Amino acid sequence: MTDSPSINSIHNPVMLMESLENLKIKKNGIYIDGTLGLGGHSKEILKNIKSGFLIGIDRDYESIMIAKNRLSSFKNFQFYHDNYKNFHFILENEGIKKVDGILLDLGLSSYQLENNGRGFSHKFESELDMRFDKSDDGLKARDLIEKYSVEQLKNIFREFGEERNALKIAKLIKESDKEINVKNITRKIDRVTPTRFRLKTYSRIFQALRIETNDEIEHLKDFLNVFIDYLKPGGRIVIISYHSIEDRIVKHSFKNLKLKNELKLIVKKPMIPTDIEVSENKRSRSAKMRIGEKNA
Ligand SMILES: C[S@@+](CC[C@H](N)C(=O)[O-])C[C@H]1O[C@@H](n2cnc3c(N)ncnc32)[C@H](O)[C@@H]1O
Repeated sequence: MTDSPSINSIHNPVMLMESLENLKIKKNGIYIDGTLGLGGHSKEILKNIKSGFLIGIDRDYESIMIAKNRLSSFKNFQFYHDNYKNFHFILENEGIKKVDGILLDLGLSSYQLENNGRGFSHKFESELDMRFDKSDDGLKARDLIEKYSVEQLKNIFREFGEERNALKIAKLIKESDKEINVKNITRKIDRVTPTRFRLKTYSRIFQALRIETNDEIEHLKDFLNVFIDYLKPGGRIVIISYHSIEDRIVKHSFKNLKLKNELKLIVKKPMIPTDIEVSENKRSRSAKMRIGEKNA
C-alpha cells in the first residue's frame, strides 16, 4: 500500500522505531494506540502483528478517517472516535480484559496544525476553535477566552505556555471588543513582544489555549490512574510527551507504580529523539519517551 504523498508530508511519526522496539510487539499481541492521529505508529504496529489486534483511538474524527484510509490494507484493527481515557470501556466493548501494550503520542499532529480553519496555528487566519473533537459541545478556544477572567487566562498562559508576559497578554486579549480570531490574538501578542520573540510567543500562547480547550492534562491524569489494571504481566506502556508538565505527570505516575511494585521502569531518564530525527523533523525536538513494563 502506498500513502498519498500529501498525507505523508503532513505528519512524520515521532520516535517511530523506538516506540516499536519498546512496545516489544508480539505477533499475536493486542495493542492500543490511544492517539491514533494519521496512523503513523499504528501502521508499523499492524505490520508487526500478524495474528494480533490493534485498537486505535482519537478524538479527531477527520484524522481517524485518514488513518482508516491509509491502513485499509490491514484487517486486524478497530478504530474508535473517543477519548483515550475511555480505553477501558472500549476494551469492554471488544470483550478484551487486558492488552500487551499501550502507546500514547500526546499533543497534536502536524496535519491538525497545518489544517487551515481549526485555529491550532498562528499561521492561518481562522476562527479560534482548537477542539480536537469537533462534535464535542465543550468550549472552543474563543469561547474560553470570552468566559475566562484575566487572572484565569494569565494562569493558563503561564502554566501551559510558560509565558513570561502572561499577564500583559491576558489583559490585552480580554480588552478586545472585536471578534476573537487568530489574527486578533497575534496582533495583541505583537503589542507586547519584540519582533524576534514573536514566533515563540505565538506558539506558547496557542499551545496553552489548546491544552486548556481540550483538557489535555486532566485526561492524561485520568488515564494514568487506571492503565496498569489493563496491562498483562510483562505488558508495556510507552508515552511520548512534548510538554514538561505532561512529562512530569507521567514520571510521577510511573514512579508511584514502581513503588507499589506494579511497574518496572525500562529507562530511568526519558528517551529523546536522535539528532538525525530532530534535523529531519523539527517537531520532534521536544519529544520525551517514557517506558514501563507491568510486573508479573
Ligand atoms: C501527535 S498526534 C499522534 C500522531 C500519530 N502517532 C501518528 O503517527 O500519526 C496526537 C493525536 O492525539 C489525539 N488526541 C489528543 N488528545 C487525545 C485524547 N485525550 N484522546 C484521544 N485522542 C487524543 C489528537 O487528536 C492527535 O490526532
